[in-house]
Amino acid sequence: MAKLFRAAAEAETVHAHAHLRALGGIRSTAENLKEAIAGETHEFKNMYPAMIEEAAAEGNKAAERSFRYANEVEKVHAELYQKALDNLDSLEETDYYVCSVCGYTCENEAPEKCPVCGAKAGAFNKVD
Ligand SMILES: [Fe+2]
Ligand SMILES: [Fe+2]
Repeated sequence: MAKLFRAAAEAETVHAHAHLRALGGIRSTAENLKEAIAGETHEFKNMYPAMIEEAAAEGNKAAERSFRYANEVEKVHAELYQKALDNLDSLEETDYYVCSVCGYTCENEAPEKCPVCGAKAGAFNKVD
């Protein structure tokens, strides 16, 4: 059944790209990076802090942890995008690894221990 959900998820990604293209939302790489930085920054400065506060107030530990993980990882995404934007003219092919527990994203190799959630290196997946 997992394959069906992955197939549908891939199809939804095709739809999302088509919708974004129709909206004129796909521009130059520099513009796309700036837009991505703005989105991530909004998430870690405003969106997730409010959600973390609300989850904590409700005593919903699972939601609070999930939002905290995402909040930390959005900061990393903004940094990685900023780095790419700063080096747009001299970009080298980089490998990325994603923590399957919290989504922490890093360059070149998986860390021994995830700095956000503490998962071991084996929990990381290399991005194709
Ligand atoms: Fe992100
Ligand atoms: Fe992690």
